[in-house]
Amino acid sequence: MAGHFRRVIAEQVSQILRVPEKELIPHIHAVQVLKKQLTPDFKLFVNSVTKDYFDAVSHKEKAHRLAGKLSSNSVISEIGTGQGCVTFTINRDLLIKRVLHEIAQDGPKYGFNSELLSDIPKGLTLVEYSSPNIAKKFHVGHLRSTIIGNFIANLKEAVGNKVVRMNYLGDWGFQFGLLGAGFSKFGCSEKLRAYPLEHLFEVYVKVNAEAEQDEEMKQCAQDFMQKLENGDPEAVSLWTHFRDLSIEEYSKVYKRLGCQFDEYSGESLYKEKAQDVINLLKSKGLLQKSSNDTGIVDLSKPGDRELSNYSTVMRSDGTSLYITRDIAAAIDRMEKYGFDEMIYVTDKSQEGHFEHLFQILKLLGKEQVDRCQHVMFGRVQGMQTRRGGVIFLEDVLDEARSRMLQNMANTETSKATEDPADVAEKIGIAALIVQDFKGLLVSDYCFNWSQALQSCGDTGVFLQYTHARLHSLLDLWESREEEAFDAVCLQDPCVILTLKHLLRYDEVIFKTLKDLQPRYLVSYLMGLGHLANVAHHTLRVKESSPEVAHARLLFFYSIQVVLANGMKVLGITPVDKM
Ligand code: ARG
Repeated sequence: MAGHFRRVIAEQVSQILRVPEKELIPHIHAVQVLKKQLTPDFKLFVNSVTKDYFDAVSHKEKAHRLAGKLSSNSVISEIGTGQGCVTFTINRDLLIKRVLHEIAQDGPKYGFNSELLSDIPKGLTLVEYSSPNIAKKFHVGHLRSTIIGNFIANLKEAVGNKVVRMNYLGDWGFQFGLLGAGFSKFGCSEKLRAYPLEHLFEVYVKVNAEAEQDEEMKQCAQDFMQKLENGDPEAVSLWTHFRDLSIEEYSKVYKRLGCQFDEYSGESLYKEKAQDVINLLKSKGLLQKSSNDTGIVDLSKPGDRELSNYSTVMRSDGTSLYITRDIAAAIDRMEKYGFDEMIYVTDKSQEGHFEHLFQILKLLGKEQVDRCQHVMFGRVQGMQTRRGGVIFLEDVLDEARSRMLQNMANTETSKATEDPADVAEKIGIAALIVQDFKGLLVSDYCFNWSQALQSCGDTGVFLQYTHARLHSLLDLWESREEEAFDAVCLQDPCVILTLKHLLRYDEVIFKTLKDLQPRYLVSYLMGLGHLANVAHHTLRVKESSPEVAHARLLFFYSIQVVLANGMKVLGITPVDKM
C-alpha cells in the first residue's frame, strides 16, 4: 500500500539528502486523481525537504537535480519532475498486487495502520456530544452535535484510541420545577410511558404558559425546585422518573441513528460539586462580588480595562450556574478518567462559554485543560419536519425514512428488500449526514430534503447506492477465498485510477484527524464512488473468463471495503441492497 511505496521512495531520497526516512515520509504524497488523467503516483515537494542540500537554486532546478540523482528500481518504474516536486510512478503490477492484497488483509483497519498515523498520540479520548435538555426542545443543534460527536468518536476509535462517549444532559434547572408543579394538572402517566419526550415537552409548555399568567403556579414551581434542591424524597423520585424515562427513550432513538453512549452524565450530577467550585474559587481569591451581588471571576488580561472580560459563576442567592456545573464536571472527569483529551461538541453560540470554562480551569491550576477542545459547528436553516421545526429527533428520522420510502417506491430499479423501512431509514440518515458534513462544520447552511435525497450528485444516497451495487455484484463471486489473481487481468486505466485513489486513503484520514473536519473524508468517498461507478460500467464480470472475473471481483471488493469503512467512520450504516 501507500506505506510500502512511501518507504521505498524515502529510502532512496534519504541516502541522497541525508535526511532520516521518517522525516521524509509525511512529505511523500499520493497524487490526487483528477479528470481521469494518468499521472504519476507519488510526489515529493522539494522545498519541504531539501533545505540545506541544494543552496540557492530554484525549486524547479532543485527538483531536477534531485530527480537526476534518483534511479528507478523494481518498485519505482519512473522518476520525473512536476511543479516544484519530484514524481514517482510505481511498477504497475506491484501497485495492483500490493493495494489489493493490503485491503484484503487489513479489512476494516485498512489505512489506519499507516505510518502517517503512528506518531499520533493514542490514549483515552472523552467525547461529549448530543447533550439535549430534558423536557425542552431537541433542536437541530443537538442533532448536529450528535452526528458530529459520533463521527469524532468513531474516527478516534478507528485510529486506536480508547473512547468514552458521553452525553451531558440538561437534567437540572427550573424546567423541573415547572414539571414537578404542573404534572399532576397537565400530565398523564400513560402518555408519559408511551412517549415520554413528547409528553414532558407538552406538559412543560403548558405549565410554562400558565406560570407566566398565574403567580400561584410560578410559586408552586419555585417551591418544587426548592424541594428538589433540598433532596426531598418525593420530589427527587419524580425527577428520577422523568430522567430515567427520557434516557430510555433517547437511547432508542440514538440507536436508530446508529450511535450510542457509554455514559449519561448531566448537570444534575454537579449541583453539589458546583458549590465546591465556588468555595475553591473563593479560597484561591478568584471570586469577586459584582455590584448586583453575583459572584464573578475576572478573566481580563493584564493591561486590559478592569473587568473587560469576566464570567458569572454564582447567582446572588448563592446558587450555581451552567458554567459552574461545567467547571465541576470537567474537574470530576479529569480525576475520574485522567483522559488524554476531551472534546466538547456544541454549536458556535457556546464558543464564549467554553473559552471561559477553559480559562477558569487554567486559573484553578488544572493543567489538563490543555487537553480539552471545543469543536463547534454552525447553524442549520430549513430542517423542517411534518410537525414543523425540529422538536424531536424521532421526527427527523421518521421524515428521512418516509421521504426515502417514497423515493424508492417511485424508482423502477429498486430491489425488493426484506425490510424496506429499515433500508429507507439507513439511506435517509446517510443523506442527512452527508449533507451536514459536506462543508466546514463551523459554516451555517440551509438544509434541503430533496437535495439531500437525490440519488445522483454528491449525496449520502449516492454513497449507499454505490455500496449496494458493489455488494450485489459481489454476490456473483464464487471463488472469494482465493487470494491469488493475475495482475495482467487488471491493467485497465479505470482500475489504475481507482487504485491510485485508494492509495490516498491514509492521507485523507490523517488530514481528517488533524482538524476533525469530515468534509475531506466525504469528498474522498464521493470520488471513490464515482470511480467505482465508472469501473462498474467498464469492467464486465459476467461475460469474462473465470480468471478475469475473479481479479475484477477482488478489485470491486477492495472498493467496497474502503467505501464501507469510510462510511462507517462518518456514522453511516452501509446497506447491501436498495
Ligand atoms: N445542554 C446544553 C444545551 O443544550 C449543551 C451542553 C454542552 N456541554 C457542556 N458541557 N456544556 O445547550
